Amino acid sequence: MALTSRPRGTNDIIPGEIELWLELEEKIRSVCKAYGYQELRTPLFEHTELFQRGIGDATDIVEKEMYTFMDRGERSITLRPEGTAPLVRAYIENNLGSGALPVKLFYYGPMFRYERPQAGRYRQFTQFGCEALGSADPLLDVETIALPLALYESCGLSGFEVEINSIGCPTCRAAYREKLIEFFTPHRDDLCKSCQGRLERNPMRLLDCKVESCHVVMRDAPEITEYLCTDCSEHFEGVLTYLDAFKIPYTLNSRLVRGFDYYTRTVFEVVSSELGSQNAIGAGGRYDGLIEEVGGKPTPAVGYAVGVERLLLALKGQNKLQLSPTGPNCYVAHFGGATKLKAAQIVQALRARGLWMELDYGDRSMKAQMKAANRLNSQFVLVIGEDEMANNRAVVRNMENGQEEPVSLEDMEQLTKIVGAWAK
Ligand code: HAM
Repeated sequence: MALTSRPRGTNDIIPGEIELWLELEEKIRSVCKAYGYQELRTPLFEHTELFQRGIGDATDIVEKEMYTFMDRGERSITLRPEGTAPLVRAYIENNLGSGALPVKLFYYGPMFRYERPQAGRYRQFTQFGCEALGSADPLLDVETIALPLALYESCGLSGFEVEINSIGCPTCRAAYREKLIEFFTPHRDDLCKSCQGRLERNPMRLLDCKVESCHVVMRDAPEITEYLCTDCSEHFEGVLTYLDAFKIPYTLNSRLVRGFDYYTRTVFEVVSSELGSQNAIGAGGRYDGLIEEVGGKPTPAVGYAVGVERLLLALKGQNKLQLSPTGPNCYVAHFGGATKLKAAQIVQALRARGLWMELDYGDRSMKAQMKAANRLNSQFVLVIGEDEMANNRAVVRNMENGQEEPVSLEDMEQLTKIVGAWAK
């Protein structure tokens, strides 16, 4: 293993790219503000049991994909593979449901899954998630879809599609489960190994299998929508009514089941035409039983998580990632010695006023310094030489249009006004 290579499935975000991330984070915060979601930050690791109970023992994530280890106190710890269960744990632990409901929260940060890395699928990846706790109103299901769609649109993304389904509640799902087992059992030998293993334990997960032979069997499988109880059916109709009212186009996908046990009723996924096999740029659903499962009062809830790397990949595919070039407000060139000292003082004074100031740290030639200012894309250049020091006056040059303006080296307000006028 080379010390210079990062672990498989991880990424460095380097200067030149980080600006896009920061811009996206700003957009996230602004759209969350409009929808009334407040930020919550949870630890990067939790007790393993939270995910076993919350996500479900028989899911791919818990069975195969968690980064789990014993800490030095012999406690089983897991790096969070997703943000919903930790958010629910924090909601209960901090008694966040004691005031007005629903409580609307969002999170942003790294998640960890031991998956087979490929384009758009990583072992450390970033999610932005929004969750509304304390209401069963179908309007909230639609709001949690509308919010990320507003984010995608504010980034300029097009060509994405909402897929939606209802997987009912534990009551109606029990009957559907039986039907599925009944349907799949005669085809057991045609199913892939993991579907054979899951047939009795978690038959709905078979609908999500990507293996071709399972797809063939699945074609005639019964559909959950035929088994929904009256309440679930009405709830789903409510969701579709609000989607129509919000003019959000969607596709009904009765095979959409999602890989977590906590979902009830509505589930959704947004896919981008820009991406290959890992085409989901976000997904979510309602989880009316999770808060009780984790130890809180029965509380309905619904949420969504955006895969940030995938969103950026989709934007890249549509050439929507051009940022206006940035650079320092001003580069202060000098001739070493006392002029360098003066340059450093000016840089320090203007940095304190919030401007991006640069200067030469070595004692390079004036030509090399001009080259550096250009390479950094500096808007202004100020040259401090012996004469300038003696007169306490210099000229500041606008590198874009070549215009020069005389300035006093005593008057930092004047200099700030000139070089700070550049709107970045
Ligand atoms: P999820 O479908 O597992 O749902 O993940 C949501 C999004 O995270 C995916 O649509 C995808 O964009 C991104 N994602 C997932 N795994 C990876 C990976 N290995 N590499 C890169 N991106 C990935 C959840 O995590 C649920 N907690 C969503 C939710 C919130 N449900 C209710 N509230």
